[in-house]
Amino acid sequence: MNYRHAFHAANYADVLKHALLVRLVRAIQGKEKGFVFVDTHAGRGRYDLSRAAQGDSRARQPEWPGGIARLWDRADAPAGVQDYLGIVRGYDRSQGNLTAGPRFYPGSPRIVRLIARPQDRLELWEKHPAECAALRNEFSGERRVSVHEADGYGAIKACLPPAERRALVLIDPPYEAQEEWSAVSAALGEGIGRFPGGTYAVWYPLTGRARTDGLLGWLEGADVPSFAAELVVDPDAPRMTGCGVAVVNPPWRFDEEARLILAYLQVALSCGHGAQGSVRWIVPK
Ligand SMILES: C[S@@+](CC[C@H](N)C(=O)[O-])C[C@H]1O[C@@H](n2cnc3c(N)ncnc32)[C@H](O)[C@@H]1O
Repeated sequence: MNYRHAFHAANYADVLKHALLVRLVRAIQGKEKGFVFVDTHAGRGRYDLSRAAQGDSRARQPEWPGGIARLWDRADAPAGVQDYLGIVRGYDRSQGNLTAGPRFYPGSPRIVRLIARPQDRLELWEKHPAECAALRNEFSGERRVSVHEADGYGAIKACLPPAERRALVLIDPPYEAQEEWSAVSAALGEGIGRFPGGTYAVWYPLTGRARTDGLLGWLEGADVPSFAAELVVDPDAPRMTGCGVAVVNPPWRFDEEARLILAYLQVALSCGHGAQGSVRWIVPK
């Protein structure tokens, strides 16, 4: 487990994932009844971008200039992206940043906590001890937030089906190892088996079509509606050309909202010719 999200925080991948996450939560909150948010790979919950380049042993290029920084001052985004931007700008200011650019960036648990209602709760899983200690500290004393230092794939069995009978599960692993792809499919299979009505969002990198096809092919064979929202920012990038979020059991008409978000981000976050945003059904509703 060498992965540290701090290097990647607020990059274009976080922007796509978190913009969709905000709108998924809003859609689920269209009903009064509470829901549980399960974050299988939660990270530390809060990132100081001014330290994003400081590693354990060597300096790195921070990635947020290619992500949140490119949207920070824009006012032309569609409502869904504006919603996300309002949340991250508000959080940044609430943490005391007085500079013009972004500094404090909320991770997925904090984003959901910021918009959660009293009837919603959060189950956060993080395996890395230092990251989990920071996460625990971030949410200490919060009654409706549970933090677990454990393998996030265990969250599926531990949290599903939920008492509320409503759930949003985010699966956002680091994909350090090739086996992560099969672990994700297995977790989805177990989740859908235990709680077929839940909404599942899976982030994945676009590094090699074959690996992606394995996950999307698995979804094709599953008997539940799903779509893939993919953003290619640089088709010529040597390793990661972009990323995607697969959404299983999306809320009603969420594909339309996702299309607007992708169309905007495709232009706003493009790094060259051929940037592309797409939303395509894997198993239609
Ligand atoms: C991509 S980051 C998560 C980012 C976070 N979801 C967000 O959007 O702010 C992946 C996280 O998974 C953690 N991790 C790696 N393997 C894990 C496992 N098996 N179970 C739980 N967490 C794990 C890493 O330490 C890292 O913090």
